[in-house]
Amino acid sequence: MRTKIVAGNWKMNKTYKETKALVKELDHSIKDVTLSNTRVIIAPTFVNLQKASKMTRKSVIEVAAQNMHQLDSGAYTGEVSAPMIKAVHVNVVILGHSERREYFGETDALLAQKVDAALKNDLEVIFCFGEVLEDRKSGNHFKVVERQIKNALFHLDSEDWSKIILAYEPVWAIGTGETASPDQAQEMHAFIRELVAERYLSDVAEEVSILYGGSVKPGNAQEIFSKTDVDGGLIGGAALKVDDFMSIIKAI
Ligand code: PGA
Repeated sequence: MRTKIVAGNWKMNKTYKETKALVKELDHSIKDVTLSNTRVIIAPTFVNLQKASKMTRKSVIEVAAQNMHQLDSGAYTGEVSAPMIKAVHVNVVILGHSERREYFGETDALLAQKVDAALKNDLEVIFCFGEVLEDRKSGNHFKVVERQIKNALFHLDSEDWSKIILAYEPVWAIGTGETASPDQAQEMHAFIRELVAERYLSDVAEEVSILYGGSVKPGNAQEIFSKTDVDGGLIGGAALKVDDFMSIIKAI
């Protein structure tokens, strides 16, 4: 059975103190929820990763990094590597987020290197991709998504896929309040699963969790999550409020 996942991407939000408070509150609230076959992941910013990781050591909540460099060490001022992330007991990293692609120039080729570095260091990857509005308007969204996935992931072996979580995030829906309709999400997720099935064995495609991201809120989560090929969500803004994030977790 495919694992369901609700992941919160905190982006550049929450100071040390605020992180401690949010993790504590989340951990407290989540104790009242029965999670079956569901993972809950939060991704605070780098400076707060170790604290969040320590605070959740006995919790069901897992912690992820939001990014990492493709090399293990070296003269790369301001960067953080996979071994550093692993060393603070964090086992998941988000790669390819559209904000990384748009504001920091991350390309498919670079992301392929980052994916390799993550897997080499035994980190699980939440790999994000998705089309911009013009692509959707011109009907190129399937082509764009296919290119992003093929270029960064299709050099991997079948076994590597046990460490890959896919996150379809149409850029036009991120932080805009606009969401893909549940049918649009399902259509794309089914396309993605088929793409993986064509390249790999069908059980690789059947096993990979495909998350939807882009303005998921308590009010729309249940309908989106009800779709066959939607295995959970990558949540931005709504992950910063305990009540909203908890409602979304309960909707899965
Ligand atoms: P949003 O962000 O939920 O605020 O739209 C989603 C994301 O960027 O992962």
